[in-house]
Order: sequence, then structure tokens, then C-alpha cells
Amino acid sequence: ASPQVIFSGIQPTGVPHIGNYLGALQQWAKLQNEASPKTTLLFSIVDLHAITVNQNPRQLRNACHQMLAALLAVGLDSKRSIIFFQSDVDAHEKLMWILSCRAQMGNLSRMTHKLNLSDNAPPVEALLNTELELGLYSYPVLQAADVLVHRATHVPVGHDQAQHLEFARKCARTFNHRYGTIFQLPETILSPAKRVMSLTQPHLKMSKSHQDPRSRILISDSTEEIAQKVKTALTDSVSGVSYDPVKRPGVSNLIEIMHHFRADGASCKDIARDCENLTMRAFKEQVAKCIDEHLFEIRQRYEELMGKEKEGYLREVAESGAVRARESAAETMHLVRDAVGL
Ligand code: ADP
Ligand code: NA
Repeated sequence: ASPQVIFSGIQPTGVPHIGNYLGALQQWAKLQNEASPKTTLLFSIVDLHAITVNQNPRQLRNACHQMLAALLAVGLDSKRSIIFFQSDVDAHEKLMWILSCRAQMGNLSRMTHKLNLSDNAPPVEALLNTELELGLYSYPVLQAADVLVHRATHVPVGHDQAQHLEFARKCARTFNHRYGTIFQLPETILSPAKRVMSLTQPHLKMSKSHQDPRSRILISDSTEEIAQKVKTALTDSVSGVSYDPVKRPGVSNLIEIMHHFRADGASCKDIARDCENLTMRAFKEQVAKCIDEHLFEIRQRYEELMGKEKEGYLREVAESGAVRARESAAETMHLVRDAVGL
């Protein structure tokens, strides 16, 4: 069998929250640390995707810097993994154009997720005559190019992204059928179901897009900030601690967070039983302590990497990542151009 190529991307949304960490970044570090020496790993900060929505240029640059520091802080190793900014590797855009020439609007219009359409929004077809922007609409083609340009065999994604990878496979099959077998069909590695809910609105997932900064814990938060956010987390007036995600979403979310952060493998039920008789205040103190202990080292590394004296180092990481990613993509683009007749 040919060696594995693992690719994944994350948007430069600034400092990741514990949902990003548990749902994606922690798994990337684990894949890296457990990969065979023959496996190639590529992790991209997908800044070209970030501009599909209106962005403040200064903020974007800052968020890119923060995300790079965060990837290193959570344990990605720039010697082992190819860590790079998508916009540094032109082949992503070039392949996107070639794939776009075969991608069908019908398939694209079913990719509603990233358009953030609500359930009662008009059908995508109705939006096509409106101000819906081309970049946002064709985003999945760029995503397909991201994966295919490195001939990735395995792509770790969250459940919400599974349909985009299905679309990438469709692009690959269409191309292979038309021009000969150039692309690998990438397999999905679904991240372990670790969905972290908002602290203030526990029926919603924790997200950068929510207004209230107390709704999420960032990997850079101090001990005090973590304690304060957990303290103000929405729970309920039932006394004692029990695990019941339907009836007690707030408390159960805190139990789940504790479960993910504890190293001893205690289940949510075990944790609920251990904490059964605690007051909510005492329970929250334990949750905060557990999060803080896990994030302690990550936070220290993050702060160090964000320091002025590390700017040169981060630039070097990005540059060497770009060089290696360009090499990886160039090989594919050579085959692609040749197959298409360019
Ligand atoms: P956000 O919703 O904060 O903008 P993104 O959509 O940029 O986060 O997601 C980046 C990565 O983090 C994706 O792999 C996604 O699946 C994961 N992720 C985001 N929020 C959560 C969450 N609350 N729980 C688990 N994983 C999450
Ligand atoms: Na999101």
C-alpha cells in the first residue's frame, strides 16, 4: 500500500476555544504523534477560506498569527508535520479552477452548511439571483482542492464537514473519469464525538461566532478566567450533580468537558457519581481546576510563542512549511496539467 498522507485545515479564527481543541486540534496532535514515520502530515491554516466572509484585514493577519502559535502550542511539531498557510501555496487556487471547470452547480447548491443558511431561508436556487457571493458559494471546490492537491489519503474532520469531503471525492472521481486516475479518493477520519456546548447557552455548540465571550473557554485563558467562566456557566436549580444531557444540558456539558480533560478515562456517569453530593459551586470549582490543569502547559507555550521574540521563529515555521507544501502540491499539479493538456 502507498504511504498515508493526512491533511486537515482550520480557519484562522484567532485563539482556538476548547471546542476547537477537543473537536479537532487535540486529534491532529495525536495523529501526528502516533503516525508511522512514512506518513506525511499536512496541517493548513486556510486563510483563503477566511476571506469568503467579510474580514477586517488587520484582524485576519492577527488571527493567522494566533492560530499558528496555537497549533504549535497544542503539540504540532513543525519538523514532523507540514504546517502552512494555504495562501502561501498557489497550487490550491490553481487546482480549484481546474476542478471548478467540472464541478456542477447542482452538487454545490446542496452544500448549504457553510452558507450558514437557516432552516427557513429561501432555497439556494432563489439566492443565486441575489448578492450571494461566488467565493462563498464555491467554497467546497476550494476545500476539495486543498485535500486533492496533496493527494491526501486521510482527512480528519468534524461531523459537520463530512459532506464536504464527500463532495471532494466526487470532484476526484469526475476528474479521474474524464482524464485518467490522478487523484486518491480521500477517506474521512471522523473526529471522536467531542461536541462541546456553549457555557451560557448549552443547547448550542460552543462557537467563536457567539456574542458572549463567557460562552467559551479559550486555550489561552488564565486560571482566573477559566474559574470565572465556569462559575457563570448556565446550569439549573436541581440540587446535586447528575448526568442527563436532555434534562440537564448545562451540568451535563460541564461533566462532559471534565470527562474529555481528565486523563484517567472516567466516564461521564462515573464523574457524576463522584460529584453527586457536591454543591454546584464546589462542582464548578472542580471542573475549572480540571480544565486549568490540562490547559496549563498549552497556555504557557502559547504565551511564549506569541511573544515578540518568537515572531522570527513563527515566520520560519510558516516559510519552511510553505516550501514543503509547495513541493507536495507541485508533484500533483504536474500530473494534473499533463492530464488536462495544459
Ligand atoms: P467555530 O464554530 O468556533 O467558528 P470552526 O467552525 O472554525 O469553529 O471549527 C473549527 C474546528 O473545530 C472544526 O473541526 C470543528 O468541527 C471543531 N469545532 C468547532 N466547534 C466545536 C465544538 N463546540 N465542539 C467540538 N468541536 C468543535
Ligand atoms: Na463555525
